[in-house]
Amino acid sequence: MDKKRKELLQTYGKLDLRQANEDDGRLLWIWRDDPDVCAASFASTPIQWEEHVIWLQRKLKDIDCLIYLVVNKQGCPIGQVRFDKDISKSAEVTISIDAKERHKGYGSSALEHACRYVSQEHGIDRVVAHIKEWNKASIIAFTRAGFTDLGFVNFKGHKAIEMFWVPRKDPDS
Ligand SMILES: CC(C)(COP(=O)(O)OP(=O)(O)OC[C@H]1O[C@@H](n2cnc3c(N)ncnc32)[C@H](O)[C@@H]1OP(=O)(O)O)[C@@H](O)C(=O)NCCC(=O)NCCS
Repeated sequence: MDKKRKELLQTYGKLDLRQANEDDGRLLWIWRDDPDVCAASFASTPIQWEEHVIWLQRKLKDIDCLIYLVVNKQGCPIGQVRFDKDISKSAEVTISIDAKERHKGYGSSALEHACRYVSQEHGIDRVVAHIKEWNKASIIAFTRAGFTDLGFVNFKGHKAIEMFWVPRKDPDS
């Protein structure tokens, strides 16, 4: 089995998920500094490369942080999903899909599968998202992935919609 296959965590329909590593640093940085991602983020200023490298090294060592690359069937990384766990079994999720690959259903699919994966493999039983109120594409993607809208909250000084996901109970269990 080659290295790329070994890195794969799961294959779901038209996408794969794999764990991020230091080699993904440049790609993660390009996505983070994409103007739409900056605007959607609660810390909207662009990040310098040097600052990003330090941040990524810290995050990859952090057992409470899980970063996954979303990979298409051609083997190209097209986005990322990140979970930051808190002290309970809950985690905050953020996502970005490469600008060229948006509106193709990857965002909702990646969220749905990544949430199920962290629930099964990491025991996370609640995933929370905060979304700026104007971010319609994001609200649609999270809703399609099974998130429930909890209404408006103040998050990091911004009016945001809070959404959450919990694993569906297996009717046979
Ligand atoms: C949010 C994001 C991850 C969604 O990923 P995606 O792959 O584009 O999502 P999907 O294709 O599954 O669904 C998006 C839906 O929103 C729709 N949409 C896109 N822009 C829209 C807008 N301005 N108004 C209303 N609907 C919109 C799309 O048309 C699509 O619906 P459709 O399938 O009926 O056409 C992606 O747009 C992104 O990376 N945005 C920048 C970063 C960001 O906002 N991250 C979320 C912060 S938590």
